[in-house]
Amino acid sequence: MPSLGTRRVNDRGHLEIGGCDTVELAERFGTPLYVFDEALLRETCREFHAAFRKAGLRYQVAYAGKAFCTQAMCRLVEEEGLHLDVVSAGELHTALTAGFPPEKIHLHGNNKSRDELIYGLKAGIGGFVVDNFYELDLLAELAERQGKRPNILLRVTPGVEAHTHEYIQTGQQDTKFGFDLASGQAEAAVRRAQRARGLNLVGLHCHIGSQIFETEGFVLAVERMMEFYARAVNEWDASLRILNVGGGFGIRYVEEDRPLPVEAYVAAIADAVKREALRRGVVVPEVWVEPGRRIAGPAGTTLYTVGARKEIPGVRRYIAVDGGMADNPRPIIYQARYEAVVANRAGEPVEELAAVAGKFCETGDMLIWDTPLARAVPGDILAVFGTGAYTYSMASNYNRAPRPAVVFVRDGRADVVVRRETLDDLIRLDQIPERMRKEQHPVS
Ligand code: LLP
Repeated sequence: MPSLGTRRVNDRGHLEIGGCDTVELAERFGTPLYVFDEALLRETCREFHAAFRKAGLRYQVAYAGKAFCTQAMCRLVEEEGLHLDVVSAGELHTALTAGFPPEKIHLHGNNKSRDELIYGLKAGIGGFVVDNFYELDLLAELAERQGKRPNILLRVTPGVEAHTHEYIQTGQQDTKFGFDLASGQAEAAVRRAQRARGLNLVGLHCHIGSQIFETEGFVLAVERMMEFYARAVNEWDASLRILNVGGGFGIRYVEEDRPLPVEAYVAAIADAVKREALRRGVVVPEVWVEPGRRIAGPAGTTLYTVGARKEIPGVRRYIAVDGGMADNPRPIIYQARYEAVVANRAGEPVEELAAVAGKFCETGDMLIWDTPLARAVPGDILAVFGTGAYTYSMASNYNRAPRPAVVFVRDGRADVVVRRETLDDLIRLDQIPERMRKEQHPVS
């Protein structure tokens, strides 16, 4: 078991996180259960601050809520002095109802609805990352009507796409997001934004990908963005002051993953911004980043109860757990890989290779293929690591599975931050048309 955060094996040979015995957590709160190591969440937020302070420039770190957005998470993020990037009315509502300061929120999205824009304007959020001409015009009109002049960044696609270890340079990027740089769309957007009385253009944004392990993609994106930024400032007189380079900082899911320290990403980005600003004769902009996975991912562990075992002699051993693609769709969508331990035998040596199957009615619902584990029998607790990002936030009710609870653990204390859905929650929104109704015989 790789050491990380407050994770350790306790005297009973059980996996412990945040000073809490995970076997006890499973008993107390049921499984599947998402467990977050609060100290690790906070530590990662602080790593971003420390890295930027060291880099010595003005900065903003906004947590990308799409990775994991609940009211308690919004509280934590605010306490750690981070801003928040939201992508929907739902995330915005979560943040605002948690008391997150609206001026520290910016709204993203390639097709924000009129209602979402109005919600953001009325709440007085810090800014909008405008994605396309339709939105530019609509937001300008809505803002003027409300007598407001929100700050906006323009999302630009710089023609750099980064994946884990490689980056791809594309001339004209074929993506639904943002104003394309190469074709001149981005230039037209700057000019149109400058003319819009309802909008205050303050910066540019780009996001080159996710789960990135190298700095080259970021550096290349900064070079392209700064060239454009400097043209906008020097030639078209745009009063820009912000360059947002998005998120994408990688994390370790399995042993082969080799993410860089936060400081390495930040230093490379900061150096490139400073160098390019100097070279192009503009004031060094404020640098903004939007990490999601890096903050939420490593701090999350999912606990499951082991059920059926199936051995196909000479082929494979399956162990089935009480969750799967509904609480973690990443393996089935992205072939994502994870590591696990048997939480109630965390101190015991690995005995067998087992494939961890989910319980959902789909052959592809496998959480992990062939992973070394202590021998797991029905009733054991399986802990899958690194599940904090894009799991709860992408969870579904497939097969009418109630979504699991989420707990934050810290110093031996466990607090439920999202309660488990009940069977009645599942039918909360159902309605039977009058003509189909019949007397009910509830099962007691
Ligand atoms: N900013 C923007 C504009 C983004 O589109 C994203 C992620 C982020 C920030 C945060 O990226 P991060 O730091 O988390 O890599 N569901 C996928 C990941 C989708 C990421 C989408 N955008 C997964 O589970 O791997």
